[in-house]
Amino acid sequence: MMKLFTNISELRTVSDAGTLQNAALVEDDGVIQWVGHPSFVPADYAAAETIDCGNRAVLPGWVDSHTHMIFDGNRAEEFEARMAGSDYAAGGIAVTMEATRSAGAQRLEQLLVERISAGHAGGTTTFETKTGYGLNTESELEAAQVAARHADDVTFLGAHLVPPGADAEEYVSEVVGPMLEQVSPHVSWIDVFCERGAFNEEQSRRVLEAGKKAGLGLRVHGNQLGDGPGVQLAVALGAASVDHVNYLTDEDVQALASSDTVATMLPACDLSTRQPLVEARRLIDAGATVAIASNLNPGTSFTSSMNYCVTTAVLQQYMSLDEAIEAATLGGAKALRRHAVTSEGATSDGATSGLDAQGRPAKGQLIVGAACDLHILDAENAINLAYRPGMPMTYQTWRAGEKVFG
Ligand code: NIG
Repeated sequence: MMKLFTNISELRTVSDAGTLQNAALVEDDGVIQWVGHPSFVPADYAAAETIDCGNRAVLPGWVDSHTHMIFDGNRAEEFEARMAGSDYAAGGIAVTMEATRSAGAQRLEQLLVERISAGHAGGTTTFETKTGYGLNTESELEAAQVAARHADDVTFLGAHLVPPGADAEEYVSEVVGPMLEQVSPHVSWIDVFCERGAFNEEQSRRVLEAGKKAGLGLRVHGNQLGDGPGVQLAVALGAASVDHVNYLTDEDVQALASSDTVATMLPACDLSTRQPLVEARRLIDAGATVAIASNLNPGTSFTSSMNYCVTTAVLQQYMSLDEAIEAATLGGAKALRRHAVTSEGATSDGATSGLDAQGRPAKGQLIVGAACDLHILDAENAINLAYRPGMPMTYQTWRAGEKVFG
């Protein structure tokens, strides 16, 4: 049934319309039909069911564009050692590989469903997840099949780590050969951990080029633990996103600013690994498009809380509240190429169609035609996200017009 969300203290559209005070929104069939002042709701919507938001702030649901949700086990001991001074190293991935390989599809699916529910409880409505803890054809395929049943976007990350005992070149050949062939029907993206201790530039290029040839979109883990080729490679190959970006040269920043490759920041991971937080201002002021994501995984970021990530961005990365909200909504949508297109698909009045480039209801903005994915805060103003850090802030979460939390 059509719904009228009303009594909204502030509606953050994350569009040219900005933030509306005392607003209402009409949804039908999972899609936003109308946005405006409650006094001007068109008569066509008189039969809609009223949802009273109780003078609370409403934002687009968070778009979590970088997670590794298909895993079993945890690495609390590794974390504790890190807090006592050890460095993070990519090798820890092998510990999770063992636990994930032996979990079985049923348990991985149950864990994934629980993790998505926890995400809903924190206001997230769109989920990307990577494979990457199977690291052989059988387990990567299992992970991809499980993920494809629940996540919005699935990324093949066979090139997460060379599994212990394997030869790097032979393993890359397996990734770009039989593994890619088996996994690609279940995923839309390919990713590579281009970093010291994982895959070098040449290996990363091989993986990305093979994925592109198989029709997958490209994503890169880059520049997490030190300067490296990840950013430049991502930009040169037209990746939708390069993620981590903790260590950037001026040339990297320039390359990002003059490209469509989104720089995705993972602040919860940076705190957990004691890496420097990304210099968000440097990227934004240069004109790069930025996103914020949770990076939920057992090694470097065992949280799906986008509220926490946004709070950190405001308090510690000197982003304004508007910038942080945009990065965690529209920025994530751009990183997944799920944002509204503005040229093709434009309506006659010049407004966007609310559809993404593939004709799907867009994510990350509250505009007509976009998915009705709403995050209703338990606060009158969104600034409470940063003003009251760590407090329970998510009142309700709606995905495609259906309540999924609250
Ligand atoms: O994004 N950096 C690579 N992959 C994950 C960490 C994986 C792990 O340590 O388990 C990340 O941080």
